[in-house]
Amino acid sequence: MTMTSQPDEHHLSDSSVGHEWWRSAVIYQIYPRSFADASGDGVGDLRGVASRLTELQDLGIDAIWLSPFMTSPQKDAGYDVADYCDVDPIFGTLEDFDALLGQAHARGIRVIVDLVPNHSSDQHPWFQEALASAPGSSERNRYIFRDGSGENGELPPNNWESIFGGRAWTRINEPDGSPGQWYLHLFDASQPDFDWSNEEVKAEFRRILRFWLDRGVDGFRVDVAHGLVKDQDFPDYTPDPDSASMGGEQTPAPYFEQPGVHEIYRDWRRVLEEYDGDRALCGEAWVSSVDNMALWVRPDEMHQTFNFEYLLAPWDASELRSIIDRSIAAFTDVGAPGTWVLSNHDVVRHATRLSLIDESPQGSGIGPDFPNIPSHRDALPRAHAATALMLALPGSAYLYQGEELGLDEVHDLPPHVRQDPTWFRTKGQKYGRDGCRVPIPWEADQPAFGFNATGRSWLPQPDRWQPLARDIQQSDEGSTLSLYRRLLNLRQQFGLGRGELEWVCDYPDGVVAFRNGNVLVVANVSAAEVPLPADAQVLASSMPLSDHQLGADTTVWLKL
Ligand code: NOJ
Repeated sequence: MTMTSQPDEHHLSDSSVGHEWWRSAVIYQIYPRSFADASGDGVGDLRGVASRLTELQDLGIDAIWLSPFMTSPQKDAGYDVADYCDVDPIFGTLEDFDALLGQAHARGIRVIVDLVPNHSSDQHPWFQEALASAPGSSERNRYIFRDGSGENGELPPNNWESIFGGRAWTRINEPDGSPGQWYLHLFDASQPDFDWSNEEVKAEFRRILRFWLDRGVDGFRVDVAHGLVKDQDFPDYTPDPDSASMGGEQTPAPYFEQPGVHEIYRDWRRVLEEYDGDRALCGEAWVSSVDNMALWVRPDEMHQTFNFEYLLAPWDASELRSIIDRSIAAFTDVGAPGTWVLSNHDVVRHATRLSLIDESPQGSGIGPDFPNIPSHRDALPRAHAATALMLALPGSAYLYQGEELGLDEVHDLPPHVRQDPTWFRTKGQKYGRDGCRVPIPWEADQPAFGFNATGRSWLPQPDRWQPLARDIQQSDEGSTLSLYRRLLNLRQQFGLGRGELEWVCDYPDGVVAFRNGNVLVVANVSAAEVPLPADAQVLASSMPLSDHQLGADTTVWLKL
């Protein structure tokens, strides 16, 4: 039986052509392991998510994106999927998913799920079949197996490195026990890459898309959307050690940004269009520039792609103006919305990141020895200002759980609790991403700050988060949570997501100022105070204003 769950029509807005919901939606990323834990085992779950929908509705978001909750040995926190059409027992059951979807839709909240098509888990039945079959068999051809180089195939087929560190190839023993072929894994050895030139792989992913569409999901966030197709010559390649590890180099790696990926998304777009309603694909494509990124959102491909160039931009007025300008131009050219984002489960939380003096390449994380880590108190104004700037931009925006509480990066996790494969594969040279994945605080005086009832937590929560718990912020007008609620409410009221940006140039260089409809947005990215018009009607301010002076690291929304 097919179960579908549609969003409550009363809450549906922006669904006509040209005003589809995803064009202006604020989408809240839930990292299920760390959101809310109904079972009390220390790992969050789907019933936990369902129990917090009131809080999400109160925040004022339009949709949630759930990071993977499918069956998985959890070697990469669920991005290693063993069964794409079932729920991992640590997160619950398919019934729990259906219930969550129905309850979210009843509240007018759309639901996007994560799809991981670049690789599966090594525990996926297909990979197990590949290991048990002969070289060149149809079972092996679903993945990327190659003979090794060297006299006896004892060296990997080329020099590619895993994004998590170490080699991107692992040698297997053939079924008879002899040393055999090598398989490619751009990530952990437990995450073998599929061969996307294989028709069976293509058909299987159409089936998986339909499985979730039939249940009623509103779309998919597509993992490693720039990486599915590899250069078939498999040339040697050495990445720039300082670049963002997931991609984005000026000369793309032979396993990223290959033109062949686009045909896959055209195919998927056709699958989505078989369905009623308004469903969306959002690509996680770490590509070299927004101009290239726009290729992923041409009218017959995906609907959105995360604007990682914006995420990576430093807190600098001219850099911000430039990336905003270039993004709007590139996306408008292909009829797609901008999709702004500042934080996610792979990057240092922006409440910390924007105030770092030394750069930490994406994915590397920071640890206790990282220089000049700002205190939470010092870093928060900039984080607020950045959020207030982002939420005023036309287009769609993604929030990452906990940023509405102003959570900072937990850089001081003890080594023995770290779980990111990056930490292990680089032998501790890179901390990885655990610091942005710590379970979030709900109630200051409850076990695990309300994450569950038992006090267990798969990563320890820092004591300094107690005053940041949601219940404390809820009643504090000056809290980060109150700021997010106010901004989201005004954004909706003034239709900013569907608006247009017009630069305002009569402010000093260190200021980013623009009009969006009836709202004038002024972000002071400099250290100097900037006077505001005496008669300005302040709709929102990221920090309190004194005497119509806009202080450093402050963004205001003024009514025109
Ligand atoms: C990108 C995901 O966001 C990240 O968490 C994951 O480790 C890699 N893709 C591999 O799936």
